[in-house]
Amino acid sequence: MEHTIGVAYTAASLAFVHGYDPHKALLSGMLHDCAKYLDDAQMLTLSKKHAIPVSEAEEMAPSLLHAKLGAFFAATEYDVTDEEILDAIRCHTTGRPGMNLPEKILFVADYIEPNRKELPRIDEIRKEAYTDLDLSILHITEDTLAYLKEKAKTLDPQTAETHAYYRELIASRGAAH
Ligand SMILES: [Fe+2]
Ligand SMILES: [Fe+2]
Repeated sequence: MEHTIGVAYTAASLAFVHGYDPHKALLSGMLHDCAKYLDDAQMLTLSKKHAIPVSEAEEMAPSLLHAKLGAFFAATEYDVTDEEILDAIRCHTTGRPGMNLPEKILFVADYIEPNRKELPRIDEIRKEAYTDLDLSILHITEDTLAYLKEKAKTLDPQTAETHAYYRELIASRGAAH
């Protein structure tokens, strides 16, 4: 719960800075992990029951499904109809190439909220989140990939795709200057 509240208010503050509706950001933060309490078997069963597509990575690490299931429950249990909020919840764990602003805000808030345990270069990433959102996404995905590799955890290919997209984006920006 502390993490959820941390994400909600961090998302709202990112919304202030980057010009997004803080109420929507707050709501996406409040609900983003609403399916996290399910165990692996329940994640798989409920996804199948509600026709939520399960990727190979999700089959191997069903907890990844809490993002898609979270969007589903936000719509069905909490009556959220705003697609922006649902989309942000849906991709909050892996990100995706070309995220829109609400997706970026939730993805970054989930990583930088103040209750997070010590993470490498977190101070730098927290600053970037407010000054250069895309650069913070590059660094978050870079560190997430390194962490998953080190711990030999299942890598959702979408995390790698998100990283590749933001690496390209930042590199092309550098070339333009
Ligand atoms: Fe999550
Ligand atoms: Fe979270």
